[in-house]
Amino acid sequence: MDIILNGANGRMGRVITKKVNDGYNGVNIVAAVDRNGAQYESLAAFTGKGDVIIDFSNHAATKELLDYAVSHNTPVVIATTGQNEEEKEMIVAASKKIPVFFSYNMSLGIAALSELANKAASLMKDAEIEIVEIHHDQKLDAPSGTALLLADSIKEVRPDSNLVIGRNGHAKREKNDIGISSIRIGNVVGVHEIIISSGLETLTLKHEAHDRSLFADGALVAAEYLSKVNQPGLYNMKDLVK
Ligand SMILES: NC(=O)c1ccc[n+]([C@@H]2O[C@H](COP(=O)([O-])OP(=O)(O)OC[C@H]3O[C@@H](n4cnc5c(N)ncnc54)[C@H](O)[C@@H]3O)[C@@H](O)[C@H]2O)c1
Repeated sequence: MDIILNGANGRMGRVITKKVNDGYNGVNIVAAVDRNGAQYESLAAFTGKGDVIIDFSNHAATKELLDYAVSHNTPVVIATTGQNEEEKEMIVAASKKIPVFFSYNMSLGIAALSELANKAASLMKDAEIEIVEIHHDQKLDAPSGTALLLADSIKEVRPDSNLVIGRNGHAKREKNDIGISSIRIGNVVGVHEIIISSGLETLTLKHEAHDRSLFADGALVAAEYLSKVNQPGLYNMKDLVK
């Protein structure tokens, strides 16, 4: 499988490159693209052909990425986070024309956590829920895409809940709030904790990512999956683990 890697010079791009260079089964990087010091400074500069694009760049690149993917009829794995509503709509529109895999988190552990959070929120229906996420001090977006993914999973069974991102001042907690608190410190790869409390009991569900190669593996598996589906559509980790 020939990969076009967008964001090749970033933290995640470098992990994928190392994995492939170390001999990841059946994968070549045919274009390393990054606006900062890679083989190609933009997707448009690459005139060859790849089987799948893997994107770990910046959400501001969404339009350029999708224009390229659609016009070259190339499936795309979007692992980048932080997209605004307009960019998310572009992703949905592109997925009607080409296969698009879009997940804020490429780890199986987070896929499991998302299912568990959904189940717990449904069983403990009167309990209050808060999410805490911790990441390294260079992370650009807050809250993390993964915290939003977890909140979405909880909202499936609690449609009336109200997302509260950060809690400024001394605003009192409302019953239906799902609060998200973000901490940025050191070199933390990613910690997500969901705290569910009825007042009589507290359940804490926690995931810790120890190494970025976890997300690189997930993206490569997603790329392999996408290269085989041959059908336009919007795919995510739920499809992968089916
Ligand atoms: N889905 C997941 O599992 C997962 C895991 C880790 C990181 N991420 C996300 O992936 C993204 C990248 O993470 P990172 O830690 O590697 O960030 P990073 O800042 O280290 O790297 C991003 C790279 O993208 C490049 N870039 C920015 N805009 C570009 C453009 N328009 N075209 C080409 N290259 C461009 C930058 O020059 C940089 O080298 C972030 O949004 C992050 O939140 C997702």
